[in-house]
Amino acid sequence: MDKLVIRGGNPLLGTVRISGAKNAALPCMAAALLTDEPVIIENIPQVRDIETTRKLLAAMGAEVELGYGRAHHRTTICARTLAAPEASYELVKTMRASTLVLGPLVARCGRAHVSLPGGCAIGARPIDLHIKGLERLGAKITQEHGYVEAVTDPAKGGRLQGAEIVFDKITVTGTEDLLMAATLAEGETVMQNCAREPEVADLAALLNAMGAEIQGAGTSTIRVKGVSKLHGARHRIIPDRIEAGTFIIAAALTGGDVNVAGCEPAHLTAILQKLAETGVKTVVKADSVRVMGDQPLAAADLNTEEYPGFPTDMQAQYMALATQAAGTSIITENIFENRFMHAQELVRMGANIKIEGRRAVVRGGTPLSAAAVLASDLRASASLVLAALVADGETIIDRVYHLDRGYENIEEKLKAIGAEIRRVGNIFPKRAAAPAQS
Ligand code: UD1
Repeated sequence: MDKLVIRGGNPLLGTVRISGAKNAALPCMAAALLTDEPVIIENIPQVRDIETTRKLLAAMGAEVELGYGRAHHRTTICARTLAAPEASYELVKTMRASTLVLGPLVARCGRAHVSLPGGCAIGARPIDLHIKGLERLGAKITQEHGYVEAVTDPAKGGRLQGAEIVFDKITVTGTEDLLMAATLAEGETVMQNCAREPEVADLAALLNAMGAEIQGAGTSTIRVKGVSKLHGARHRIIPDRIEAGTFIIAAALTGGDVNVAGCEPAHLTAILQKLAETGVKTVVKADSVRVMGDQPLAAADLNTEEYPGFPTDMQAQYMALATQAAGTSIITENIFENRFMHAQELVRMGANIKIEGRRAVVRGGTPLSAAAVLASDLRASASLVLAALVADGETIIDRVYHLDRGYENIEEKLKAIGAEIRRVGNIFPKRAAAPAQS
């Protein structure tokens, strides 16, 4: 299993280019299931979750071509026929976002058979809101043997029916799943209390380019006039705001000077505002943020919220920063119930953090020292990388496959701006077997 070895202490200097947003690319790839024509998506990041989605779509019978580098990080997906509108447990268990195929499949094929995702490291994460919404759109849903079976009513021509949907709770992939389903429903759908994340608006931009009639994506009320057919389209994915935020914190933490290029600063407002409170100096241009980490860091409390609030996906990285800020920061996690797995690993590196339910109390300013640590989920891994960049000595981060799910080429990008980081295979060779005792 791969590990990252990081020697801390170098200030990061130079320019880093941000990749396309994984969380926008995943629903956009699922959206290609809604048409029998090719959908071309550019700026796809080369990360493991994209590869999982490729496998998922291919298993249903879609043709998926993926090309990186000079091929513009482009994928062409053609779901001419979908022999098996199914998502198996094998794939769903490795990536919960696989449930994004539920809405498109039932809308296009009149039937979907998708594994329930189960819990994950950061909390229970049910999909009840996806299911309730599809029922509002007229799907009949049954759950058996760990799978959801959704079918449309043959008496209604096998089409979903437009409806009013009010989400009990704001859900990002729930909004995306139902938005995709509603595009092919008969009549109008009005969805309220929707997620306002930029990734939802990006998905809607693709769907509209495919011939959908969606208004209001990116606000809490979305209106969709159903159409009977969608066609092929070409779309470019927005930059990854979480990757950008992670590099901004890396620059600030290490006292570096980094130009975070190819990002969308308008999507980073809450992050930049919070970092300004901690004393981080930034210069914001149209598509870049320069971070000058020459000021001491000061503690600031943080609440994670739905967009446009501070993202839960940046909470772990912010905690790494808080360990080095003078004073006490209280970090409150409002989105997921169990998203402090990184705290104990940071404590092993010398941080002073106490967890009280959904609150973490971080007493900052304690020096960090290198240790062998374990990544528990995608963003937790990023926080350990950040801590390692300022720790004294060589930190070894195990289970970096979590990081590979969502960060493109992170060690190459960090190395290019001065970090001492390398990836190794099994660096703890098995001890030679002891000689047999007689
Ligand atoms: C998405 C992001 C993830 C991010 C999260 C919150 C993708 C692929 N993933 O995940 O990176 O951390 O948004 O910004 O875009 N909930 C229910 N019932 C449901 C659905 C959700 O109770 O049917 C709850 C969840 O348990 C959680 C909250 O709603 O407490 C928000 O979850 P949600 O927005 O759905 O997260 P994801 O879409 O899975």
